[in-house]
Amino acid sequence: MSVASFVPLQNSDRKTTTDEASAPPIFYPEMGSDDDLRTIRDIFFVHDCVLIRRLLNPARLKFFRALCDTIYVEDDRRMQAGQLPPDLVREYQNGWIWEPRLRKETGGVFGYEDIVLNKKLFAFLNLILSDAWYTAAASQIRRMPPRAEDYQWGSQTSYHLDAQWGDDRHYHLNVWVPFTPCGVSAAGLEFLLTPADTIRRYGRYDPGIPSEPKTWNGASPRMDYGLFALDILQQQFHPQRFWAPRFEVGDVVIFSNWCAHRTALLPAMTDMRISLEWRVFVNSFDTPLRPQQTGDERPI
Ligand SMILES: [Fe+2]
Repeated sequence: MSVASFVPLQNSDRKTTTDEASAPPIFYPEMGSDDDLRTIRDIFFVHDCVLIRRLLNPARLKFFRALCDTIYVEDDRRMQAGQLPPDLVREYQNGWIWEPRLRKETGGVFGYEDIVLNKKLFAFLNLILSDAWYTAAASQIRRMPPRAEDYQWGSQTSYHLDAQWGDDRHYHLNVWVPFTPCGVSAAGLEFLLTPADTIRRYGRYDPGIPSEPKTWNGASPRMDYGLFALDILQQQFHPQRFWAPRFEVGDVVIFSNWCAHRTALLPAMTDMRISLEWRVFVNSFDTPLRPQQTGDERPI
């Protein structure tokens, strides 16, 4: 579909299309670990999403992958034997390894922050969030099976915003780290590349609406999440705005709670994906350091 063949929906209630939505993206937000931090930041703000290639040490990630494999193998065995403690069943069914579990399995030595410990990554966070960011209990390691029908664990998701089920009052980032190559033979992620304010306008976000009651699927009522059904998005946004990159071990993708995304799952995929979603928050609705708003150019 080209820009010329772009067809907005007929329902006038849903005419939320913007110029940004109907135009192709100027570029994909894919950077290298040697690229200048301010360039990475500027590209991040165009789409609320940036992929930084080869940022983390693959050998270190291999170590954490091995730890996860050990935990998953043991949990599979205990689940089959009916020996999994009840408090771990939900964690197991969702394919999660929560941080207390990781710490326990490593004798208290390693937590999530050790996985993402990287000078440039932390400098990037400071550059857009100031030094006011904090981590919260919204992070998890997750395994994702290659087939949608393998729902014993894993939770493939359709298009959503993390603000939808989580906190839509505080800006937060998902620092997403694959421990396995993915996007080709294992499920990846697909992003809808748009700035945060565009997606809020598109979804008719209204902070004045009370946060309760939630919608039927537990989402915030402040946005019309019916507009995030795939067929509607595909009518409203240029096809090149849907971006499902290939990930290698060492790559990191950072996206905000306003970045629409889904699991990128193809029928031919055969491999398990293991990844970390590590979330950092700020005490504000938006990032405090958008350069176009603040003129902030502090030394890095
Ligand atoms: Fe998500």
